[in-house]
Amino acid sequence: MGFTIAIDGPAAAGKGTISRRICAEFGFAHLDTGLLYRAVGAKMLTGAAPIEAAQTLTAEDLDGDLRNAEVARAASKVASIPEVRQALLDFQRAFATRAGGAVLDGRDIGTVICPDAQVKLFVTASAEVRAARRLLELVNGGADTDYETVLADVKERDHRDASRSDAPMKPAEDAILLDTSDLSIDEAFAKSVAVIRERQQGLPV
Ligand code: CDP
Repeated sequence: MGFTIAIDGPAAAGKGTISRRICAEFGFAHLDTGLLYRAVGAKMLTGAAPIEAAQTLTAEDLDGDLRNAEVARAASKVASIPEVRQALLDFQRAFATRAGGAVLDGRDIGTVICPDAQVKLFVTASAEVRAARRLLELVNGGADTDYETVLADVKERDHRDASRSDAPMKPAEDAILLDTSDLSIDEAFAKSVAVIRERQQGLPV
């Protein structure tokens, strides 16, 4: 049986970094599910119909510049369409149960995609801390933006993601909350590893 780790949380909370480090430590495969919604959002920006874009998504669609603010906003808009979410469901579930273990990060992994995941983390931080982190990423990537713009974007997206009726962003009842506002990435990673090891030890081998 596969070992599945669900990592959810709001924009720029550190889910991606923590997921990648967990995968490096344990040899699990990583799926950044936000990238799927970003790819659909990017297609919508070029004029495609979002539902059809989600139903016909290919691996090539995940290449390219998906890490900018415009695509993030479009991703959050298409993510509120139930048919878009439905179209992306099977791929995510199949990935989650692959042999060798998987880490999926997103908004609804612990609640909808993998409700039986062995480990569920909900990674969060204050909007201000997250905006500062995202600003650094965007500026390092060559974007011309500022703190106030990024903070407004982060808040708008969190609100839309948490208030949609289909698969809203929220911690699963059995998720472990990890607030990284005052934690370094090393500390957040160490806490995650401790939770995973504890869970692994409790399982039959
Ligand atoms: O990297 P960041 O946390 O800013 O965003 P992301 O994980 O790439 O997700 C982009 C957008 O996709 C989010 O704002 C959500 O609207 C949507 N999303 C979702 O609805 N469900 C997921 N499992 C993952 C992302």
